Amino acid sequence: MRGLRILRVALWAAALTGAAVFGLVQGGVIGPGSERRSLPVAPAVAGIGGPFRLTSHTGRTVTDKDLKGKPSAVFFGFTHCPDVCPTTLSDLTDLMRELGPDADKITPVFISVDPERDTQRVLADYMQAFDPRILGLTGTTAEVDLAVQAYKAYYRKGAASSSGGYTVDHTAIVYLMNKEGQMASSLDSHEPREARLAKLRLLVANHR
Ligand code: NI
Repeated sequence: MRGLRILRVALWAAALTGAAVFGLVQGGVIGPGSERRSLPVAPAVAGIGGPFRLTSHTGRTVTDKDLKGKPSAVFFGFTHCPDVCPTTLSDLTDLMRELGPDADKITPVFISVDPERDTQRVLADYMQAFDPRILGLTGTTAEVDLAVQAYKAYYRKGAASSSGGYTVDHTAIVYLMNKEGQMASSLDSHEPREARLAKLRLLVANHR
């Protein structure tokens, strides 16, 4: 079972890396000549994005349909995360400031993979530290699992520590979704800030 799980994770990682690179090449972020940046259409990455129904940090029901009509930047995580999540959300906050008016053309979304601790109230408190346009989403475990499946994301709750706390291993990329709700590209925390900014600008340019 363990071998199978590792294989599944490895396959998933390979597929997503391939898909993301494909998206970047097609989108013109990677590729010869800067003129490719002005290509009007970035083909979507097949199979990522699908139906879900969650509750926002403000108490609203939000489904995949609500995100359509505008590109979105979707990130999975949990409020007790010591490093990756707060860093990613701070980075998103900075990138949105940098984008200026274009930031309003993207819906940034943070989906909790720790529904046990991340109630709407906990999420509401947590989101106050970041750009107010970032939409925090949580739900029951079943609802969260459906969203995770829709994005072909991954999470796994770790063993409890002596103090009773636990960590959650999770997908750490930011999915850049087009206005039809399909994956167009992704942001990786190891990329230079300028590269991430360029991808967000491209996402907006391709979907105005
Ligand atoms: Ni995290």
